[in-house]
Parts: sequence; structure tokens; C-alpha cells
Amino acid sequence: MSGKFVVQGGNRLSGAVRVGGAKNSALKLMAAALLTEEQTVLTNVPLITDVKIMAAVLERLGASISYSDPDVIEIKPGYSLYAEAPYELVSQMRASIIVLGPLLARLGRARVAMPGGCNIGSRKIDMHIRGLEMLGARIEVGHGFIEAISEKLVGSKIALDYPSVGATENLLMAATLAEGVTIIENVAREPEIVDLANFLRKMGAKIEGAGTPTMRIEGVDKLHGVEYRVVPDRIEAGTLLVAAAITNGDIMVKDAIPEHLEMVISKLRDIGAEVIASDAGIRVAGCKCINPTDIATLPHPGFPTDMQTQFMALLAMANGTSIITENIFENRFMFVNELNRMGSDVRTEGRHAIINGVPKLTGAPVKAPDLRGGAALVLAGLAAEGVTEIFDIYHIDRGYHNFEHKLRALGANIQRISKGERSNILKVAK
Ligand code: UD1
Repeated sequence: MSGKFVVQGGNRLSGAVRVGGAKNSALKLMAAALLTEEQTVLTNVPLITDVKIMAAVLERLGASISYSDPDVIEIKPGYSLYAEAPYELVSQMRASIIVLGPLLARLGRARVAMPGGCNIGSRKIDMHIRGLEMLGARIEVGHGFIEAISEKLVGSKIALDYPSVGATENLLMAATLAEGVTIIENVAREPEIVDLANFLRKMGAKIEGAGTPTMRIEGVDKLHGVEYRVVPDRIEAGTLLVAAAITNGDIMVKDAIPEHLEMVISKLRDIGAEVIASDAGIRVAGCKCINPTDIATLPHPGFPTDMQTQFMALLAMANGTSIITENIFENRFMFVNELNRMGSDVRTEGRHAIINGVPKLTGAPVKAPDLRGGAALVLAGLAAEGVTEIFDIYHIDRGYHNFEHKLRALGANIQRISKGERSNILKVAK
């Protein structure tokens, strides 16, 4: 389902909303399910496009997939799997590369289409490949495929050049079934890595150090099927918290985990919002006047790149100038041109964006350039004067389940319009 969102800005959002399961965890847990022939049951899985694509990848590899509830997926890989993840699926979602480690560990071979670039940057996979080679795999890249073979993976000491999320996950999964001990240094520490490690441990893997810069994995012969609940999505939660701040509203995001959002909470406080964090979730009350602040994206526990555009939308209406520095992905400022169509004053210089706050944004037709940029345009539309139409919302559907329903329940005036349909909001506005 795609089409566009039509947003009439100006409503203050208030009420309580529950955050769903994390996209960036669910996708990896689904891939990790390939490490056993037994059935895995994942609960709290978000019903987003990327999860559906990963399910299609697993089915193509020979696993059977069923849904006993909309947010519960049962995955049964069985004894025989195919080793090839084809281009038509991998090209739809770059994260499919994550099946490389599990396939290699289970089958001793894997053939995965090269994911190629994507909207937000070139996104190389050299660290995935080098790390798997250090575990004993022979890898060839050619004709658009990565081909990996190993009679057996053997534990090794690996130091990553950079704490890549995907490389950490691929190596962690491969090492669980390798012979002996693997030490990986400079690993990513994102909450989704900890979730994957907890899941693998429940399956019988021996892992220490998840959430710290060094992980130690002692290989085991076999993993078994388990039932596991996906961790709440910190980026969906953060997006909803910014929705409160940008509309001068008051929202309680239930199940959001404060420890996963420390930098986001700190920046919300800097801009003048009131934040109350508890075991039940996070509540944010906006303020009339948004203070400017500077942000630099960094690997966790630094400020998440996946929250950068949402904060830019917020700072676009600050009472002064802010600077955002994007250190992770080179193309994550594509959304600036769209935001400027709504009256913001943002200019970019290399990896820096200089945001001169303006008193108000004005509704305009805009295009979602990618997943998080699209969500940020919706946030801008909620605060803007008049009507904003956001096109290409298939990007947003990749990562947010029921986005417009959740926002509407909080008081937003937002409609999804399929191709050929007409919007009531637009009729009233004209
Ligand atoms: C994951 C998340 C994404 C998030 C990102 C950073 C998923 C599905 N996606 O992406 O939402 O924004 O983490 O938190 O979980 N790099 C290399 N060589 C490599 C691997 C990465 O140079 O082998 C570079 C990338 O080009 C990028 C940077 O490292 O500039 C970060 O990438 P990485 O941490 O691997 O992000 P992803 O796993 O792709």
C-alpha cells in the first residue's frame, strides 16, 4: 500500500501510544532463526514492509513462515535450506545481507546478491567480508553476488575498523556455530545488538560482552528453536516523542525504554521540552519556544543517525541557529530540500547542516526521500500552517506500522490517500 499522506497541521498531539517492536532487531532475529532447523517464534514483530521482505527472503531460502497473530511470526527453517538469496529480494532491502553469516554457519556456503547502494549512502560491506574471511570463509565477489564457502568456521580475533551494526551482527551470528572462541573488538553497542545476543543466548549460544566494545563468543555445535519477544523500537519511540515536542503537545510513549534513548531525551530537554522517563515509558510535554541545539550523530550510545531528520524538523522552528553534523551516512541530508519547501532555512556544508530557526513552517507538497526523512516530513507537516502532502510514503511503510493511525489517535489530522482517491482534508482546504 502506498500513495500519499495528507496532513492538516496545527493540532497539539496528546495522549498515550504504545511503541511496537524494533524493525532493526526483528529483521536480524528473523535471519538468526536460520541458525537452527527447529521452529522459532518471534512476538512483538512490527508488521512493516521490511519484515515482509525478510519473510520472503527466508521463504526463498526454504524456511516456512506463518503468522499466528499479526505480530507473531513462526519460522521453521527445517533441515535443508537453499544457500542463495536472490537479487530481486536483496535489492528491495539492503538488510537482507544479514543472512550471509547464518547461512555460512549452517550450510558452509552462501550466495547472496550484492545489495548495492541505497538512498542514504554507499553503505559498503567490506567489514562483513573481511570478518567472515578471518573466521575461515573463502569469499569471492563477482557478477553481482557474494559467494562464501567454508568447510568449517573457526574462531578468531577480529578487530573492526568501525563499530558497524550489520558487520557486528553477521560476525556474531557466524561465530555462534564456529569451532572455538571468537573475540570481536570495536563492535557496535546498539540495543538491537544486545537484543540479538540475548536471543542467540536463549537459543544456546555462549556470548559475553554484548553492549560493550568487545564481545567473546564460544562456538557451540547446535542451537535450538525458542520463543522470543522483540525489544521495543527506540526509533519509532523517538519519532513519537518528537511529535509531542514539535506540536507543543503531551504524549506518553508506553514501553519506550529510557536507557535506549538517553541522547534523544537529553536533546529534547535541551530544546526545552519536559521529559519524564519511567519503567512504563517516556512522556514528553512540548514547550512554546524551541531552543536551538547542536547535534552530532555517532554510533550508540551517541546520538542515533536514525533520529537526525526528525530533530532537524524540530530545530527548523527553533528560536536561533542549530548545527547538525551527520557522521554515519553521507546522503542523509537529502531531506533538507524537501523541508526547505516548507519554509525552513537550512543549508548544508559537507557533513554539516546549519539550521536557522524560522517562526513557522508552511504546508507544501513534498516527497519522502527515505524512511526517516519521510517520517520527519510528516512531523513537520503536523506543526506546519496549512496542508502538507507527503508523497512516496512507501519509504515510511518500510519502518513504521500504522503510523497514521497512531498519530490520529493522538489527535493528528492525517489521512492516507491511495492513488486515485481524493482527500477530505484537501477538499476543505480548497
Ligand atoms: C544499521 C541500521 C540503520 C542505522 C545504522 C547505524 C538496520 C537494518 N539498519 O544499518 O537503520 O542507521 O545501523 O546505526 O539495522 N560501513 C562500511 N563497511 C562495512 C559496513 C559499514 O564502511 O562493512 C559503513 C557504512 O557505509 C556506514 C557506516 O559504516 O557509513 C555505518 O554502517 P552500519 O553501522 O553497518 O549500518 P547498517 O548495519 O547498514
